[in-house]
Amino acid sequence: MKKFLGMALVATLILASCAAPQAKKLVVAQDTTFPPMEFLDDSKATIGFDVDLMNALAQEAKLDIEFKSVSWDGIFAGVQNGTYDIIASSVTITEERKQTMDFSDPYVNAGQILVVLTENDKDTKLSDFAGRNVGAQVNTTGSMEVDKIKEITLKAYDDIALSFDDLLNKRVEAVVIDTPVAAMYIKNPKFAGKIKLVGDPMTDEFYGLVVKKGNKELLDKLNAGLKVLTENGKLEELKAKWLK
Ligand code: ARG
Repeated sequence: MKKFLGMALVATLILASCAAPQAKKLVVAQDTTFPPMEFLDDSKATIGFDVDLMNALAQEAKLDIEFKSVSWDGIFAGVQNGTYDIIASSVTITEERKQTMDFSDPYVNAGQILVVLTENDKDTKLSDFAGRNVGAQVNTTGSMEVDKIKEITLKAYDDIALSFDDLLNKRVEAVVIDTPVAAMYIKNPKFAGKIKLVGDPMTDEFYGLVVKKGNKELLDKLNAGLKVLTENGKLEELKAKWLK
């Protein structure tokens, strides 16, 4: 009996130590279809500006993080219901989004730009595409720009890569997308020489990291980290690495 009690005690202690609260990793969600910001390399590892930025921030703010790939459509719900803690996915800070989530300080300027076939030497602005099909990623600031012109038919894509395929196939006649991403696609061997940027960015917009509305503790850490990375030149270094 004594022996049994002893074993029970040991078992209880083991169980108790397992149940002790572990430092929880913060989950960082990304839609990894958005080069050079967040995308998969040939070995399917997630790389990009936002990955480097989050790793640098984690080190700076002493956060333990892990990355999670999610689809863009519905990405905001997951931070609201606590499935993940941070979205680092080229999310533009907008007044409307600020009603339902909190944003860090801005870290990259990324206006929307028009991408067309190189052979197109007539159209130079979005309104030129009235009565025609234009592609954008679903529920993005790009699709919002297209929606503003009622005469244009928006084709909304889950994965922006498919909109560029459709541009080559002429299923859409233009794509509206964040400038850094457009700049990357026109250099991609599959599209190089066939598609081009036209005009200046049509919006002025900035990326921010997203946390659940009211998570001030985490937001303060991210902003403090961003400040350090701005002051010590790391942010500029990342821009030079990924956005040229
Ligand atoms: N900046 C745009 C927006 O916030 C597009 C972001 C899409 N991001 C992505 N990783 N697919 O609406």
